[in-house]
Amino acid sequence: MNVINKAFKEGWGAVIAKTVSLDAGKVVNVTPRYAKLYAGDGKEVIGWENIELISDRKFSIWIEEFKKIKDTHPEGILIASIMEEFSKDAWVEIVERCQDAGVDAFECNFSCPHGLPERKMGAAMGQVPEILEEVCGWVMSAAKKPVWAKMTPNVTRIQDPSRASLRAGCQGLAAINTIRSVMGVNLETLRPEPTVEGFTTPGGYSCRAVKPIALRMVMEIATMIRSEFPGRSLSGIGGVETGRDAAEFILLGSDTVQVCTGVMKFGYAHVKQMCDELLEFMEKHKFETIADFKGKSLDYFTTHAELVRMQGERKASQAAAAEAKQVVKADDQWSGDSFVQQSNDLARN
Ligand SMILES: Cc1cc2nc3c(=O)[nH]c(=O)nc-3n(C[C@H](O)[C@H](O)[C@H](O)COP(=O)(O)O)c2cc1C
Repeated sequence: MNVINKAFKEGWGAVIAKTVSLDAGKVVNVTPRYAKLYAGDGKEVIGWENIELISDRKFSIWIEEFKKIKDTHPEGILIASIMEEFSKDAWVEIVERCQDAGVDAFECNFSCPHGLPERKMGAAMGQVPEILEEVCGWVMSAAKKPVWAKMTPNVTRIQDPSRASLRAGCQGLAAINTIRSVMGVNLETLRPEPTVEGFTTPGGYSCRAVKPIALRMVMEIATMIRSEFPGRSLSGIGGVETGRDAAEFILLGSDTVQVCTGVMKFGYAHVKQMCDELLEFMEKHKFETIADFKGKSLDYFTTHAELVRMQGERKASQAAAAEAKQVVKADDQWSGDSFVQQSNDLARN
């Protein structure tokens, strides 16, 4: 509660709480649970692996705190992240109890790569579009607030589970959750990191290093939403640390942008700098609202074959123009009269 209230005070537009489930007693975390990847300078963290599970706090405590947070910050958008087993009753119950507590929206966590696959939760559910469609249908049958389904990047085609969730009626999607990873192996002990009692398990990769993959997946989902589900929304996540990163996600079709590891690195006050950077970008391009540039860069994607065709066409027309201008190709073509023009035609600028 303290953390969420702090986030609202610092100016974050919305907070998505740590994923909750009805029975936190089944969730047991280990320590250490994070491992970092450093840039060449050995100082800057660019990659982050976690083997953290969903919240291990009692659901009843979360419900009480959701109520208190909404009392203290009625203007703050509080989104409950929820995860349950493959049971309609459980999903309906968790939705109803959270919305009774006053949350503004839901994000369904169908995407944690390491969290509770033995209970068929998280990515184990989100990787199977048929199951996802059924579960999203249960959520939508109970939800009176908007619902985003959070997608796992650990699939070949992220459009497939995305489409299944939207078909079931979810208002939007969030992408990406973490990428299944092994951070590295300690060359002294030969143990993979993060080491717990001498062993590890693959975890979820986040931070700056995942941004290119997140952007690609956001682009693919946004393109699909544009053509098949216009009006549905997309929340972009993955390696966002600056306002300029946020601008890139919006240019590729995100309606909103989330930050997770960035807050763990820089703290809650970081939002102010991010907002300044985003505003600076918008002012430079004379964009007044997010809608002015949302999805604007999606138009510049095409197939590789089309890139080859366009480049061939451009080279052919340049060659024709050069031919017409009689650009000098060999020294015997220089002429005294048009020497200046011929020199200019050979210049880059
Ligand atoms: C330590 C840690 C805990 C996370 N816990 C959750 C979680 O409870 N629920 C969830 O949906 N995503 C969780 N995520 C995933 C993030 O919300 C986000 O999708 C992912 O880390 C990529 O964004 P980032 O690079 O900004 O961190 C967690 C990520 C980290 C690093």
